[in-house]
Parts: sequence; structure tokens; C-alpha cells
Amino acid sequence: MKPTYYITTPIYYPSDKLHIGHAYCTVVTDAIARYKRQRGYDVFFLTGSDEHGQKIERKAKEANVTPQEYVDQIVAGFKSLWQLLDISYDGFIRTTDPAHVAAIQKMFKQLYDQGDIYKSSYEGHYCTPCESFWLARQLKDGNCPDCGRPVELVREESYFFKMSKYADRLIAHIRDNPDFIQPVSRANEMLQNFLLPGLEDLCVSRTSFKWGIPVSFDEKHVIYVWLDALSNYITGLGWGGADESLFHRYWPADVHIVGKEIVRFHTIIWPIMLMALNIPLPKQVFGHGWLVLDGGKMSKSRGNVVDPVVLADRYGVDAIRYFLLRDVPFGSDGVFSNEALINRINNDLANDLGNLLSRTTAMIDKYFNGSIPAPDAKTPEEDDPLIALAGALPAEVDAQMEALHVPDALAAINRLIGACNKYIDVTAPWLLAKTDEGKARLSTVLYNLAECLRIAAILLIPFLTATPAKIFAQLGTAPTGQELDSIAFGGTEPGAQVQKGEPIFPRIDLQKELETLDNATVGRGLAPAVEHKPEIEYDDFDKVELRLAKVIACEEVPKAKKLLKLTVESGGETRTVVSGIKKWYAPADLVGKTVVLVANLKPVTLCGVESHGMILCASDEGERLAIVVPGSDLPDGLIVR
Ligand code: ME8
Repeated sequence: MKPTYYITTPIYYPSDKLHIGHAYCTVVTDAIARYKRQRGYDVFFLTGSDEHGQKIERKAKEANVTPQEYVDQIVAGFKSLWQLLDISYDGFIRTTDPAHVAAIQKMFKQLYDQGDIYKSSYEGHYCTPCESFWLARQLKDGNCPDCGRPVELVREESYFFKMSKYADRLIAHIRDNPDFIQPVSRANEMLQNFLLPGLEDLCVSRTSFKWGIPVSFDEKHVIYVWLDALSNYITGLGWGGADESLFHRYWPADVHIVGKEIVRFHTIIWPIMLMALNIPLPKQVFGHGWLVLDGGKMSKSRGNVVDPVVLADRYGVDAIRYFLLRDVPFGSDGVFSNEALINRINNDLANDLGNLLSRTTAMIDKYFNGSIPAPDAKTPEEDDPLIALAGALPAEVDAQMEALHVPDALAAINRLIGACNKYIDVTAPWLLAKTDEGKARLSTVLYNLAECLRIAAILLIPFLTATPAKIFAQLGTAPTGQELDSIAFGGTEPGAQVQKGEPIFPRIDLQKELETLDNATVGRGLAPAVEHKPEIEYDDFDKVELRLAKVIACEEVPKAKKLLKLTVESGGETRTVVSGIKKWYAPADLVGKTVVLVANLKPVTLCGVESHGMILCASDEGERLAIVVPGSDLPDGLIVR
């Protein structure tokens, strides 16, 4: 029977569109899963979506759909992104799956019945605009740490999970199992910062919103949030349901791959939950770093996300997978930039790998009519280092992957490619081809090159999903799915017919490409992504009355820092509009201009002046601003749509 291997990604929040950072986490997990499959393991790779919570409830409301409709649509997008990136997951768990919901309710009840969950009240400082609870120590000068506004002390009835009861057992487990938390620095951080100072019990229910799994015996509470989310790793295998066979086959997990900011939940709450349920702990939690842009984490709220769909479209899925797997030191942060991406594609994939394949197949084509020559019986010593490197490579890749050092595994493969390119320069096949004696040597040289390429392609299978098959096709071998069996040096049968093909990774002109990407229109996907509002019907849009209006007078509003008072005429009507544009316009700049007026906005009073409508402006929230004006001279009163 094959050994089993169970690997997971976190389950993603469907509140945001996924960006290249999320793709990073999933692509790394995919490469490890594929690698294990290649090595003969019976692998189960689980990913999914974490769909409950107040944020989703609120977003669905804004979009005028039910929370379920809202998450269904976003999760469909997750699945198509994973398909695009060739993610080979075996299971996709949604926390709204009925089987998950039922299992969580059962689990909650069991923990309650055995006294590990108890009812009490939660006291927190509530920020109404942010709808967030904060502990006293999290406040900034007594105010909300996010928005700086005053908070209110509130009490809410809640269920609590007795984390404290299991703390000593967990500390002992972490100390006795140095591999449990990786990289090891994260284990020290957990012990020093959270476990040794003493664990507080965890609030595990809420009454302030509805979009969650109801507590079966107290329906005004919904289970919030980590109990629901973390259990996905076992409910995704059917735990707590009618058929637990997958759970019995794969649990305990070999590794949970998670981002560094959620290591804490996975190495403290999750093992304690499992201890309370008397379920064995996962063997390892690996905390990877972040893919960052200009020194900050990518996040939708910061507006600095990069769309993996755009990148894959532009450079191909394998190029993106390669960059993510090779460039980000696993466990530490990596920086994304267009330049780093293009350089990586050019250096490793176009110049090294792609070029080696084109040169090798072109020379076999030219000097041996496309048939891979048999090597000469006695290989000169000069070839030993290359053959030794290729022979040792499978074991080296294996060692790196066992340690989850994904970039180092790729670096090792790249070293063989680099050595082959050097071998071409040193042996100078074009000179060998000139004499009969040279031709015998040339057959060995070209055989060795084809053989190294074949070995490299086999080893690349877990990382790149289309390229290895292209290399095999050009080398005249059909992929069989059993390539690893013939990984030892010498597996290529002489006589195979090479097929010269298109370059597998065309070189990108860095300067030109960067200019294109800097151009806001073409490279839009690589600029900070635009957060769209929910779609609306035309009828909704049609409720807004937009008209051209002419500014006939303008003055500052006394005591207001930002406001100008405009008198405008539109279709024979005169009205006053107050606008926050003083930072960008002096009153005199505006008089005589034709602007776009939102004519049916309810009047509001701003700094004592009643405003009847609004002037349309384009702005980036505080930096730049310009009023919107018609492209040619048109009379006021005209409808804008
Ligand atoms: O945390 N670079 O979901 P999530 C690398 N639902 N990884 C990144 C990243 C970046 N720039 N941005 C996000 C959640 N991630 C919970 C998990 S698990 C039981 C529940 C990673 O959608 C992040 O570190 O906010 C995390 O591991 C994963 O994406 C999901 O983030």
C-alpha cells in the first residue's frame, strides 16, 4: 500500500478577490502535493473557502444578495483561478457545506457537554463604524486602533472555549516535537509570546450577527470563528459525517501550509481543539512568509494587489508558478515586482532552460538528422562532473523537498541546466562537427545534453505543469507518468527523434515590457486593482439625474477648510451646491465652467449652507482631484448618462 500524505492550504475568505499572494500559498502547496504524488505517495490535498462572518454578511447586504448567493459567486471565482493555475486539489471544503455545518454543531455540543465550552459574557470595546471588538490593551489612546474614533464598552453573552486547561499539554508537545512548528523561529515566537505568558479562554460565539453556524442548543448564538474555520481540515475528510473513511485514511495531516499571521491559530487553538476532541495532532504546521509589494503586505484594503489572472495571461501559467516557487524564500517574505518577475523568466526559463533545449535539439537536428546519437563507449573524464551532477540531482531535489525548501529544489535543477550550457561552451560542438574524430565526441556531448534535459524535465514535473511535456515532446519521448522510474543517468534510448519546436519561453524585452506595464491602460491589471461596487441594474443607475450645469458664481464657505459654495444654472433653474474642492480650486477658476451636477440628490446642510446636489469630480481620495467637464461646448440643462 502506498504511504499517505495529507496536505492543506488555509481556507480563503471570499470577501476579497484573490491576489498573487493567495496564489503563492496555493501554488506552493500544489507543488509539494505533486512532488509527493510523483514520489509514490497517496496524496490528499485539501483547499477551500472560509465563508462565515459579519464581513460577508455586510458585503452581501451591500450587494443586495443573500450571504449564500454572495459567497457562491466568489467561490466559483476561486475555483476558476485554481483551475487556471493548474492546482491539483483533491478536496475543496466550503464552510457552508451542509456536512461541515452539521459536524461543527455536533463538535460544539460535544465540547459543551464535556465542559470544555461554557457560557459567560464577553466584554469588549466596540467601534460602531468599524463594527469591531477590541481588548483594552489593543486600543490606541483609548480609541479604535483602526480608525481612531471613540469606542464603547459593551458586554455580549458568549460561549467560551477552555483553552487554558490544555496549555501545559500543548507547551510540552511543542517542546517534544521540534518539527511541529516550522520554521523553528515561529515555534519560539508562539511559546514566548502566547503560551508561556498564559492563555486566555477563547470566545467562540457571537450574537451580534447571524451569518454563521448556529449553536444547535442556543440558536441566538452563531459559532465564531476559528472553531468553524480550523475544523475544515477534518470535516474536509468527512469527519463527523456519515462516511469517515477519508478521515481514517489521511488524518493526521502531514502538513498544514499557512501564512505567518495565522500560524498562531493553527498551533495554539487548533491543537487544543483536537486535544479536547481526543483526535491526534497534525504532524506539522508550516508558516510561510508573505509576498509583498514595496515593503507592505498585499491587501485589498491597501489597494496594492496584483491579479494572478492578468499575469498568467501575459506570461503563461508555468512562468508565474516558477516565479512564485523560485523567488520567494520559503518561510520568509518575498518581494513581487514586475522587474523581478521578468528577470526571473528571462534568466532561468528563457536563457537557461529554453535556450538549452533549443540549442540541443537544433544541434541534434543539424548534425545527426534529428536522431539522438548513441554516446561513445568511453566517456572522457571531462564529462564526469556533469554526469555526476545529473546523477545526484534527484536525491538533492528530494532532500530539499522533504525539508519543504521549494526554491532550493528549483535552484538545484537550475544548476544542472546552467552546467549544461557551460558544457556546450567548453566542448564547442560546432568545432567537433568539423572532423570525423570530433563527430564521435560530438555524439557523446549531444547525448549527455539530451539526457540532462530529460532528467531536469522529470524533476520539474511537480513545479511546472505544461513545460515538462513540451520538453519531452521536443526530445522525442512521450510522457508516461512513470518518468521517475527512469531518472538514473542513461535512460534516454539513442535513436529517439527530436522535434525542434517553438522556444518554450520566449525572451521578454525587459525595458519595453516595463514601459508597457507602466502604461496605465495596457498594464492595468498590474497596477493597484480597482475595487468594484456590486453590479446594479440599469434602472438603479437611471434613478440618478445627472445634468450639465454652468457655474455662475462661487465663494468660500466661511470657517470651512474644504468647502466652496457654487451657484449653478441648469435648464433655467438656479441653485446652490456645496463642494469639498477648495484644496484644488480657487472660486475664480470655476466661474463660467460647465460641470456635471447630480440634480436629484436630497439637500444637505454643510457648515450652515444648504447644498442642492453635487458636482462630479474625479479624484484619488485626497491626492489629485478634477471636476468633470463635457468634452465640447454644450448648453447647461442637458442630461448626462
Ligand atoms: O486567513 N503573501 O484567510 P485569508 C502570501 N480564512 N500569502 C498571503 C498573502 C500574501 N501577500 N496574502 C494572503 C484566512 N496570504 C482564514 C484562514 S484557515 C483555517 C482560515 C495568505 O483569505 C494568508 O497568509 O485572509 C493565509 O495563509 C491565506 O492567504 C488565506 O488568507
